[in-house]
Parts: sequence; structure tokens; C-alpha cells
Amino acid sequence: MITSEFRPAWTPELEDQYSDLITRVGTTVPCLEWPLHLPWVDAINRLKRYRRAVVMAHSYQSPEIFHGVADVTGDSLALAQAAADCDADFIVMCGVHFMAETAKILAPDRIVLIPDLEAGCSLAASITADDVHQLRALHPGAPVVSYVNTSAAVKAASDACCTSANAVQVVEAMGTDKVIFIPDQYLGRHVASRTEVELVLWEGRCEVHEQFTAQQVRHTRERFDAQVVAHPECSPEVLAEADFVGSTTAMASWLRKEQPTRVALVTECSMADNLRNQFPAIEIIKPCNLCPHMKRITLPNIHACLTELRHAVEIPRAVAISARAALHRMLSVGRRDEP
Ligand code: 13P
Ligand code: SF4
Repeated sequence: MITSEFRPAWTPELEDQYSDLITRVGTTVPCLEWPLHLPWVDAINRLKRYRRAVVMAHSYQSPEIFHGVADVTGDSLALAQAAADCDADFIVMCGVHFMAETAKILAPDRIVLIPDLEAGCSLAASITADDVHQLRALHPGAPVVSYVNTSAAVKAASDACCTSANAVQVVEAMGTDKVIFIPDQYLGRHVASRTEVELVLWEGRCEVHEQFTAQQVRHTRERFDAQVVAHPECSPEVLAEADFVGSTTAMASWLRKEQPTRVALVTECSMADNLRNQFPAIEIIKPCNLCPHMKRITLPNIHACLTELRHAVEIPRAVAISARAALHRMLSVGRRDEP
């Protein structure tokens, strides 16, 4: 029997078997690391076929996960859409907890597993369903749009969800002059700058993106003569310095379209690594920060999760029904942030 203490062994044949992967990811995973990663990559790939499982990885996952074992990759909207369409027996979410919850809400008949239950998010932790009820009482009649970076209970207390890829369109689809937009105040301020709708904001922030400063970005641009692309969870001062602001998938689309010589990516570190592999001709500078929650997901804990079928995400039925309605409202709007 395979247990969580299992350690797959390195064999020289693995290097031949995965030569395509090694070449593709060669710009970010040094060859010295492959003897460590490949045994896990191979064991996970075999196990996921045996389990009829799909591995989904957010753009912030480490390259050996993103390129080595994921069947579906993308931003949180792309992962939510993929979960809604998925017919595998198991979904392994290599992202943070709210992403696994979103997958479970949209795919209630699938078993959704997350390799580490502690993979949280500072935005999701910043607000509760009770806070949402209090906001509604303070602003009667204003609908609530919640960023997907929220718990299932907060989604259930919302009228619609959004991601950074479609926040403006979801806010406008509410059809009101005023919307309560939670919990990311920086994304909220970015959305407010692009719509006539009045937004009531919450004080949440992403602990990773709030660390970037405008001075850092100006310095990077001058030093490297680089264009700047930033995630809308950064502060307004940082976003004002950027040539393009978009979700993680929109950043990739922008690179594909613009083909800049050199670009600085103001977001989570692994995103830059993953894009380097997709765009080897573009020089990608990474003035980046690590998301400690995303980094709780590792090849060994993905393997353990598939072996022991741990940790299955469960959501109370009534919460799931209301949260699903809010997510469906978002999915009906779709993706609108392509450059
Ligand atoms: P995306 O919606 O762009 O995937 O971002 C999710 C996230 O957690 C960014 O910090
Ligand atoms: Fe949450 Fe920020 Fe990590 Fe994204 S990068 S999961 S918003 S803490």
C-alpha cells in the first residue's frame, strides 16, 4: 500500500521520459532540482490517472506543479469555469482554500481535495458573513458583489461574485447606482475608477500585493527599461505606474499581444516563473513577493492528498445553494478583461 511516508525513487529513465518538461521549464527550474521533483511528478501523474482525478493549479503555483502535474491552469476565474465543466471523480485544487470551496460549490458531485487545509488568504480572512449582513443594514437596497477571494459563507451572503477578470462588468450588471463591493479595497478602488457606479468598500487587502510600492515600480522601470504589468490587488499608487493592469490570465494575454522586449510583473513570484516558460523571448523581471498560502502546496502533499484522498472540502447545503447562485451570476457575465 502507498502511504503518506512514501518517497518515490529517482531513476535515470525519468529524465528521458520527462525530457519535454525539462526543456520547457528549463528557464526556471535548474537541472539540479529535477532529481528531487521528477519522482514526485511521475508518481502524481500515475496516481491521478488511477484515481480519475484532475489537478487544477492557479498561476501562482510553483513551476514544477504548474507545468509538471496540472491538467488545468489559470486565474481564479478560469479555475472556477473549469470546475463547473469538470466530470472527473476528484478535483485536486492546487490553490488556496477559497478556490477549493469555489470548485466544490460549482461541482457539487465531484470530490474536491486540497493538499493543505491551511492554505488560506488574507482577503478571505478579512470578512465574515455577519460583516456582510451589517453592511447591508447600513446601505439598504445596495446589492453585494464579493470578490471570489472570500469564504463560502460570505459568497452565500452576496448577490454576485466576481474575480479581478470581470469585476467592473459584474458591478455594472447589478443595474443599481450603488454596490457594496467586498473585501479588497484596492481592487474596489480600481473598479471604482472605471465605472459610474458608487462603490461601498471594505478594508481588506492582499498581504502579498499590498507590499509593492510605487517607488519600487518606478525604480524597476528606470533600471531595466521595462514595461510594467500589475495585478489590481496592488495599491492605486502602484497601479498608476503600470502600463497594464489585469488578472493573472489577462497578464499572459497582454504579453502574447504586445510582445514587449522586457516586462516587470508586479505580482506573486511564481507567476513570473510560469510566464517565463510560456514566453521565452520576453525578458521577465520579477519584483515579486511570495504568497505563503499558495506555497503550502507541494508535490509531496499533492501526492499524499491523492493517496489518502485527504482533505475533502465540504460545504453546508444551504450555504452551497446560495453561494452557487452568486457564482452563477458571475459566470453568466464571463470574462471581460482581455487586453
Ligand atoms: P486572479 O483572480 O487573478 O487569479 O487572482 C487571485 C488571487 O488570489 C490573486 O492574488
Ligand atoms: Fe490571497 Fe494575496 Fe495569496 Fe492571492 S496572493 S491567495 S489574494 S493572500
